[in-house]
Amino acid sequence: MSQDNPRTIYLKDYRVPAFLIDRTELHFELGEKATLVKSRLSMRRNPACEHQDAPLCLHGDDLQLRRLVLDGVTQTGDQYLHDKEGLTLHNVPVQFVVECVTLLKPQDNSSLEGLYRSNGMFCTQCEAEGFRKITFYLDRPDVMSVFTTTLVADRTRYPVLLSNGNLADQGELDDGRHWTTWEDPFPKPAYLFALIAGDLQRVEDRFTTRSGRDVALHLYVEAQNLHKCEHALDSLKRAMTWDEQNYGREYDLDLFMIVAVDHFNMGAMENKGLNIFNSSCVLANPDTTTDAAFQRIEGIVAHEYFHNWSGNRVTCRDWFQLSLKEGFTVFRDATFSADMGSATVKRIEDVNLLRTAQFAEDAGPMAHPVRPPSFIEISNFYTLTVYEKGAEVVRMLHTLLGAAAFRRGSDLYFDRFDGQAVTTDDFVACMEEVAGLDLTQFKRWYTQAGTPCIDAEDHYDAESGRYTLTLRQHCPATPGQANDKPFYIPVVFGLLDAEGNEIALPAGVDSTLTFSESEQCFVFDGLTEKPIPSLLRGFSAPVKLTFPYSRDELMFLMSHDSDGFNRWEAGQRLAVDILQELVKARAAGQALSLDGRLVEAFRHVLRDEQLDPAMVAKVVTLPSESYLSELSARIDVEGIHAAREFVRLELARQLYPEFLAAYQRNTRVEPYRFEAEALACRSLKNICLAYLLVSADPEGLSLVETQFYAADNMTDRQAALSALVNDGVQASAERALADFYQAWQHDALVVNQWFSVQACAPQAQTLDRVVQLMQHADFDLGNPNRVRALIGAFANQNAVQFHRPDGAGYRFLADRIIELNLRNPQIASRLLTPLTRWRKYDAERQRLMRAELERIQRQDSLSKDVFEVVSKSLADL
Ligand code: TRP
Ligand code: ZN
Repeated sequence: MSQDNPRTIYLKDYRVPAFLIDRTELHFELGEKATLVKSRLSMRRNPACEHQDAPLCLHGDDLQLRRLVLDGVTQTGDQYLHDKEGLTLHNVPVQFVVECVTLLKPQDNSSLEGLYRSNGMFCTQCEAEGFRKITFYLDRPDVMSVFTTTLVADRTRYPVLLSNGNLADQGELDDGRHWTTWEDPFPKPAYLFALIAGDLQRVEDRFTTRSGRDVALHLYVEAQNLHKCEHALDSLKRAMTWDEQNYGREYDLDLFMIVAVDHFNMGAMENKGLNIFNSSCVLANPDTTTDAAFQRIEGIVAHEYFHNWSGNRVTCRDWFQLSLKEGFTVFRDATFSADMGSATVKRIEDVNLLRTAQFAEDAGPMAHPVRPPSFIEISNFYTLTVYEKGAEVVRMLHTLLGAAAFRRGSDLYFDRFDGQAVTTDDFVACMEEVAGLDLTQFKRWYTQAGTPCIDAEDHYDAESGRYTLTLRQHCPATPGQANDKPFYIPVVFGLLDAEGNEIALPAGVDSTLTFSESEQCFVFDGLTEKPIPSLLRGFSAPVKLTFPYSRDELMFLMSHDSDGFNRWEAGQRLAVDILQELVKARAAGQALSLDGRLVEAFRHVLRDEQLDPAMVAKVVTLPSESYLSELSARIDVEGIHAAREFVRLELARQLYPEFLAAYQRNTRVEPYRFEAEALACRSLKNICLAYLLVSADPEGLSLVETQFYAADNMTDRQAALSALVNDGVQASAERALADFYQAWQHDALVVNQWFSVQACAPQAQTLDRVVQLMQHADFDLGNPNRVRALIGAFANQNAVQFHRPDGAGYRFLADRIIELNLRNPQIASRLLTPLTRWRKYDAERQRLMRAELERIQRQDSLSKDVFEVVSKSLADL
């Protein structure tokens, strides 16, 4: 790095703003060569600030200032200071009006932050600190203002001009331009500002809130996507109803708009009244969209809608509090999704994500608490820890308080802090207040990083009938943090007798153990036999729990536990145990053989027609390579892959008739519907399909090909395509890929799937193929969806090829990061993730990965985003 290292921002340095902005009036003249932004800010000194003589410092990220006017007086260059970070004005009065004119070049903005262009339209992304790339402002979430926005643009090119709130006025100019004025009555921080200008089509719907407000719902898309709007609008209406029923929250404007854009760094953004979505997170149609994507879209539409209360009406005081809105909103959308389909299946999917990706983050150099104490670049903290672990923390509060008290707590929170910018402490205080609980220790979940480990063991004394469960906890240190104080952990549990019945707990014993000390014994008297414990039901806390279960006990729990999550979990534990043993055996050069108990367990669930097919699908899916890697102290890349492939092949061979029967039983002839039961059948059918192909039985191959060429929906087509590419004969895979591209090349989102399937193929030539695909006419390094589909999928989902022993995978990724470093820092920084995990690999891979990180570090001008991740990854522990 040639320039000075960027500085670290600390939570402990938080001060209230010295100024407030009562009104914000914005005027945009959007042009092909330049865009003029005029702002008029009605400001005053903040009476709560101790420095009533503080200068006015407005954020402005590398802005071109055209004019600055203070209370009607144009300021000359000697009256203010303007640099790369903003504008400073000394001697401003108590109350005043500042007017600024800035000139922007959105067409050159490839960072997709601030005002930029996507497929010929103008759009914005302001969270977290993008507004300062548009105009000078107090770009911090605790400065909330009422916005009025006027947009002026060419009428033919940009017939649609949108911003937050309600359309107040519009008109035509003589020069071919037109204009609209939008008023948002709710005070908001700048990060929730948005505008859109483009040639878009609108699909309309309506919703009547329970108090009778009639809300217009508008979804804006490009003309070719009009057939992909229904699902998002249906999801939105379900989310609106759900939030009324479950949180008593109604929508508060007469208009709710969603816009789909192709160039977007993340999933979607909750701008007030004008949500902007990555097109991949909103557009859906059975022909082009898999079940998984349908569900994801439903969840994200709900997530952004729920932010209207948990995020917008009540927002964050500063960016260290990000989980206040994100953790809570993820908890809300997860509960919503659980209510829309199978709650257990949703829980399994969330736990899988948490345990593979968030636990890995907590064990790596970027580990941070749910409320980080510092950051260099806030964009790097939109993490699995803040989102998913943050949601787990809220979920634990829900468990500890119970549903009714939790609801009283959330009502109090929304009520008390409506229109304010607050902290996670404020949120927890509401929960404490309604429940009469002291959550001081619980709040360590917000301040200590790392994944706590619980070692459990039990003892039964037949003579006295006393059963003792002993729990011990410890949490590994993370960079710069000891995490050594015990966590307050709700452990939901039950005890099973030898027949598999739930043993009634003695009166006064709760099914949630509060485990808050380093070591604790829980004693149960009056037991007539040694029970089998079912621990951490529903995954009641984000921890790693070990208990010395025998394989037979795990089989027993798989079929008897009354908790659906733990039935699945018992199967996963059994499979992990077996896979880990095989990895060791392989490393020792021993022949591999599969414990018959796994085969029997799978046979049992596959044959049981009473079970929910979606659950069966989860049970017969082996733990992923990334989960097995996370569990390893030192990752044996080839060993994990080989052991898992060996088990898949054995299962496929030994259970061929069962997989075939389940495949046939779950193959439906009726046309595609997005509906829980049909989804469940497709999920099991397609898992079975993959096993049938792995078995190498010719009938398997022909079934997969038949499904691929005959499918009437993308779920079935894509499952067959992946199976052919991963496990099929090469000629058949190539034919299918060519056919797929031929049929879907007009659809960008389907082409993304086509890139991903190829990037994930475990064969040796995959990296060459990925390099070649970068030259494909449809590939575009400027589109994050393309980057994620090809480069991201390769680096994150294809362990054996990304971690090739020669380091070519690492070199390839580092080259892409260097290319993207200045072009799109957020995406460049996210691509670094797999390299940050270098300490978990063997010495040679460590050397190769480090060398690439160091090569990136040596680049001339590193973005703050990349600088932070690279330097933390290379820092000594
Ligand atoms: N707040 C958004 C959400 O959780 C996500 C978000 C944060 C985002 N920063 C972003 C989206 C930058 C796009 C670009 O829903
Ligand atoms: Zn969010």
